[in-house]
Amino acid sequence: GVAAKIAPSMLSSDFANLASEAQRMLDCGADWLHMDIMSVMSNDIVSFRAYLDCHLMVTNPLDYVEPLGKAGASGFTFHVEVSRDNWGELVQRIKSKGMRPGVSLKPGTPIEEVYPLVEGENPVEMVLVMTVEPGFGGQKFMPETMDKVRALRKKYPSLDIEVDGGLGPSTIDMAASAGANCIVAGSSVFGAPDSAQVISLLRKSVEE
Ligand code: DX5
Ligand code: ZN
Repeated sequence: GVAAKIAPSMLSSDFANLASEAQRMLDCGADWLHMDIMSVMSNDIVSFRAYLDCHLMVTNPLDYVEPLGKAGASGFTFHVEVSRDNWGELVQRIKSKGMRPGVSLKPGTPIEEVYPLVEGENPVEMVLVMTVEPGFGGQKFMPETMDKVRALRKKYPSLDIEVDGGLGPSTIDMAASAGANCIVAGSSVFGAPDSAQVISLLRKSVEE
């Protein structure tokens, strides 16, 4: 199968102590750190030595390629809904800054919309299927989005497929069995008394 990547969402962390919170998650076994980029960017992520999985929840992702590249971002995932006219240029720029391009889609967006981005000559390397409406942490997982994950996994056996929103011990099996391998988890990891235990449980479910 495709390797499991567990990505705590730093949106649920104690923002005043972002760097130490990030380090704590790595110590707890996190593979990636999921950063939701809204409108302001924290300088704290500069030169942090971890895989920074950036999810661009902005309407103008192109404007963020340069600064995020400089800040040391690893993955740059933009939304297809705001990039219908310029995703080709966007993917090229992301790659030219040494970042891994990914595309995300909201619960209401049909999965077919991302196929051209996965199959193009300059393909994205990850699809992020939103399992809640993007915006904030702590929302309820939408099981109906699993149809999209299943369709993607069937079509692309080795693609990185990420899920984001409402993932935790009670929903991970649905996502893992549908074929997701990159798991974002905010409140379930940060809200747990033992974050390392939750991270290892998520990983086990994906690796099963
Ligand atoms: C939601 C963000 C998520 C969020 C996930 O719009 O993209 O990354 O932080 O938080 P939980 O896991 O609490 O749903
Ligand atoms: Zn996110």
